[in-house]
Amino acid sequence: MNLPFKKHINGIHPYEPGKPIEEVERELGLARVIKLASNENPLGSSKKAQQAVRRAIDRMQLYPDGSCFYLKEKLAQSLGVTAEQLVIGNGSNEIIELLARGFLSSGDHVVTSELSFLVYPLITKVCGSELRMARMIDFRYSLPALLELIDEKTKLVFIANPNNPTGTYVTQKEVDAFLKQVPPHTLVCFDEAYFDFVDAKDFPDILSVIKKGRENVMILRTFSKSYGLAALRIGYGIGTPGLIDYLNKVRQPFNVNQLAQVAATAALGDRTFLMKTKQTIIQGRTFLKKALTQMGISGTPSQANFILMDVKKDANRVFQDLLKKGIIVRSMAAYGLRTYLRVTIGTPVENKMFIKALQEVL
Ligand SMILES: Cc1ncc(COP(=O)(O)O)c(C=O)c1O
Repeated sequence: MNLPFKKHINGIHPYEPGKPIEEVERELGLARVIKLASNENPLGSSKKAQQAVRRAIDRMQLYPDGSCFYLKEKLAQSLGVTAEQLVIGNGSNEIIELLARGFLSSGDHVVTSELSFLVYPLITKVCGSELRMARMIDFRYSLPALLELIDEKTKLVFIANPNNPTGTYVTQKEVDAFLKQVPPHTLVCFDEAYFDFVDAKDFPDILSVIKKGRENVMILRTFSKSYGLAALRIGYGIGTPGLIDYLNKVRQPFNVNQLAQVAATAALGDRTFLMKTKQTIIQGRTFLKKALTQMGISGTPSQANFILMDVKKDANRVFQDLLKKGIIVRSMAAYGLRTYLRVTIGTPVENKMFIKALQEVL
């Protein structure tokens, strides 16, 4: 072929999403399949968001509001920032991409940790930039190890907090020490996709850092997890007005669809759904940790809506055996963790079904 394919892009392995429920039902002839593989909301989504989408359906011929005006107003109010400090994306994934498009050129460096979100390496490689991954300690980001990798070519640092797939987090004290040493030409992006599931007291308050005007720090959050709007694709970034203005130059004019905008705006007004989700996840997490401990299985101390666990058997095999029982989880073999699974917290019934199936399979 004569097309000018780029070598560094040809070498990329595309992101593999979790298996869809319908596919497993069809392939294995199962009537009921539960998916604990993609960190989705087990309670569905807010009824208020659903109603807002129904109301917006008869305006689908119109382009969406390119500035996400109403959503930004509402978000700004709830976060205590200005609308100029918010950029909305087609999922928070899109904002990772905006950062890469805005800041990375070939030869630049991106620093993150091993065993973290796969989209960081993916997007770095697309830009022809170099990814530097620090080692984890006990499945936790080591911020001193990240610091050692930062140099004059480092444009972006990604810290998933809590991290996917480990569920672990970095503390306020660790972040304070880290931010004192990060050079001003390096933008540190705290990816807080799982922020709403945190109950740890020493979780860092990055929002305050941004409110104080720190230019090289930003936060990413999403409506996909705690608000249950993954299918609509909507997330956001928080930063200083200067940084947000720059990212707005990089994005497409109508990057966020209207159904997502109205759903997210309505979801923000449904505190009851958010609180119920949070409670379900924290209780489910406690239940699963206890049940796993009783089975002699160690799980990471997760602050997210999933647990990384060492089943001490071939993870791909255990994944297949659970699939036959109608339970989709994630094997972590592709991360080099050959005996580990990542399991999303489900409803109380789903959590019990998972534990029972795991007992049988092991
Ligand atoms: C750490 C992390 N960041 C970002 C995302 C992307 O979320 P969104 O659905 O908003 O693109 C995920 C989703 O799995 C994630 O785990």
